[in-house]
Amino acid sequence: MVNIAVLVSGGGTNLQAILDAQARGEIKNGQVCAVVSSSDKAYALERAKNAGVPGYVMKKKDYPSGAAYCEALAQFLKEKDIGLVVLAGFMTVLDESFCKAFENRIINVHPSLIPSFCGDGFYGLHVHEAALAKGVKVTGATVHFVNAVTDGGPIIAQRAVDVEPGDTPEVLQKRVMAQAEHILLPRVVSLFCEGRLSVSDDGIVTITE
Ligand code: GAR
Repeated sequence: MVNIAVLVSGGGTNLQAILDAQARGEIKNGQVCAVVSSSDKAYALERAKNAGVPGYVMKKKDYPSGAAYCEALAQFLKEKDIGLVVLAGFMTVLDESFCKAFENRIINVHPSLIPSFCGDGFYGLHVHEAALAKGVKVTGATVHFVNAVTDGGPIIAQRAVDVEPGDTPEVLQKRVMAQAEHILLPRVVSLFCEGRLSVSDDGIVTITE
């Protein structure tokens, strides 16, 4: 059984999708045992509580540096024997040593089809603002392994979503969440826990039967 930690910063709808999938028995060989929030105001903490999952708050500003924060977070996750770290709207950048400590064991959900609209500065609503400003007709979501390059790790799964005339960033964000993120993320979490994801040396992910 893989112990899963979900890292959050805000509303936690992706966390909820994982918890709902778990309640339906769709996360095979894995269990969410910790939710770590970078903010004590995140509604995601309420969702964890409602599901009976322990919630923890770790704020970057309580540590002398970003490196000290990442070290403390890695230590905490190791103590809990975490085998999979899920970034579900976690808005704090994790440093190289954290990524190395959990190499190919951290996944992130990003609200665009990487390599479009990703990298530094592209998070949350900004991603959808940029997609609408460019006039793309199709966007979507990506779940990928995390390395030290922002949104640059091996791509695991993607799902396309249509942009509709008159979309606002908020409307598009909701559609991308409902039609892509909330479907992809729990699926990938289960595939990981089932041991069905492998990454080649050149960073290509294969899903095995
Ligand atoms: C989601 O759309 C997620 O893809 C995005 O933040 C939102 C969090 O929503 N993450 C990023 O932009 C990371 N680069 P949630 O708290 O309701 O899951």
